[in-house]
Amino acid sequence: MEKKELLTKGKAKELYKTSDDSKLVMDFTDDTSAFDGKKIEQLAGKGTVNNRFNNFIMNYLDSKGVACHLLEELNDRESLVLSLDMFPIECVVRNYAAGSICKRLGLEEGLKFENPIFEFFYKDDDLGDPMINDNHIISFGWAESDDIEILKKLTLEINDHLVDLFLKADLILVDFKLEFGKNSGKIYLGDEFTPDGCRVWDKETKKKLDKDRFRLGLGDVVESYQEIAHRLGVNLT
Ligand code: TMP
Ligand code: ASP
Repeated sequence: MEKKELLTKGKAKELYKTSDDSKLVMDFTDDTSAFDGKKIEQLAGKGTVNNRFNNFIMNYLDSKGVACHLLEELNDRESLVLSLDMFPIECVVRNYAAGSICKRLGLEEGLKFENPIFEFFYKDDDLGDPMINDNHIISFGWAESDDIEILKKLTLEINDHLVDLFLKADLILVDFKLEFGKNSGKIYLGDEFTPDGCRVWDKETKKKLDKDRFRLGLGDVVESYQEIAHRLGVNLT
């Protein structure tokens, strides 16, 4: 499989074409971004942790029957993935109150929700990723109604699997964001599942171990990602 030219450069990943049109190389860089790209820094070693972390989670979800775009880990920072036609939407699920929902609804951080809360956001940094609902998605042709139902169902199913997995490692999965896409009519989990796109707290101390450490300037960002990985049994070497 020959790696070819850069297809897209995201805030923390780069996607390259390959000699096979249906496959792409995903490169996890050390770039770390917050607040829709307003704060960006290089954190040595983050790309490697995130690549290995993502592959561990996607392999786990695959074993539970969730179709994921991951095909093969290539090296420390790169993996081969199936090329998807991505929905321009972010699927967020929240188990505890944190981040934007606290500001929006005046909630205290740490409030446990009776049932997970699902939210859609429109993927657009210039607009600050605004929250949207099914009607916006259908009106603007971002996905069809059957697909919307599948995205909600898959996200909540993934939440059930991962909440259990994290709890066994004494970790609370507070919330996370997923992105999905289609290949040959089938929906796959795309993008990534890493501490860049979720909130994870220590079960006892409630210490933040995810990208909030970077957003809030708490330090030890990569070390905390490694701590989550270590507890879950991700092989980082
Ligand atoms: P929020 O509290 O900022 O809305 O974020 C909820 C979760 O989704 C949190 O784990 C961070 C993640 N997220 C991203 O990774 N990227 C995004 O663009 C957004 C809106 C959320
Ligand atoms: N993922 C978005 C960004 O990089 C939002 C965030 O994480 O704060 O800017």
